Amino acid sequence: MSTEDPVKLMKQQVGTAAAARVQSGSIVGLGTGSTTAFAIQALGDRLKSGDLKDIKGVPTSFQAIVLARQNHIPLVSLDEIDHIDVAIDGADEVDPQKNLIKGGGAAHTQEKIVDSLADLFIVVVDGGKLVDRLGSTFLLPVEVVPMAVTPVMRAIEKLGGKPELRMGVKKAGPVVTDNGNLVVDVKFDSIDNPAELEKTLNNIPGVLENGIFAGVANVVLVGEIIDGKPTVREV
Ligand code: 5RP
Repeated sequence: MSTEDPVKLMKQQVGTAAAARVQSGSIVGLGTGSTTAFAIQALGDRLKSGDLKDIKGVPTSFQAIVLARQNHIPLVSLDEIDHIDVAIDGADEVDPQKNLIKGGGAAHTQEKIVDSLADLFIVVVDGGKLVDRLGSTFLLPVEVVPMAVTPVMRAIEKLGGKPELRMGVKKAGPVVTDNGNLVVDVKFDSIDNPAELEKTLNNIPGVLENGIFAGVANVVLVGEIIDGKPTVREV
């Protein structure tokens, strides 16, 4: 992967920094997205060099499965383990309370399952993802069972949201998730109480999961370029 683009450089630095925190023998939740991809690659590099031994990965998406295989990280399912030591995952927005919006890659349902089970959930983002209030820059993804998409969109409108069905790129028709569902991206003018909105949305029949992760993140690592040099700081 090229590291000339500053955003890519920040993602690489922060992904590598998160991978450096993983200890031998750990069960590791493997998130989804371009930042986590650098973390998975860095875990693979540490395994290859012998710096890290005996880890097992729990993937959050088909993308994570493919990257783990490419980087020779053995995978396990949730049926085979009784805990996850650490999960590393990206985010689309992070507020000052470490609440997140996720789902830019339509993988937030499996991500929430894995990230919530981890003893330590490390979020990896570049500086552009930090916001004062969730919903400021990113639409909120909601995974919906296909037959329910119309009533779910109506219910979301009643809550004050403006929903739009996510359409595929280089694929005709809507995005279909790894779970066989659709994604509705919702604009809310203001998300004042992320934890409450997370529960309210999940209560609509037909909603599988939404992209608010309230109170799940333990550590947020932020990649930034300061004075032309890539740095990582912990929030
Ligand atoms: C996928 C996600 C990603 O973690 C999120 O979209 C961030 O991705 P990236 O690191 O590529 O910016 O939630 O569903």
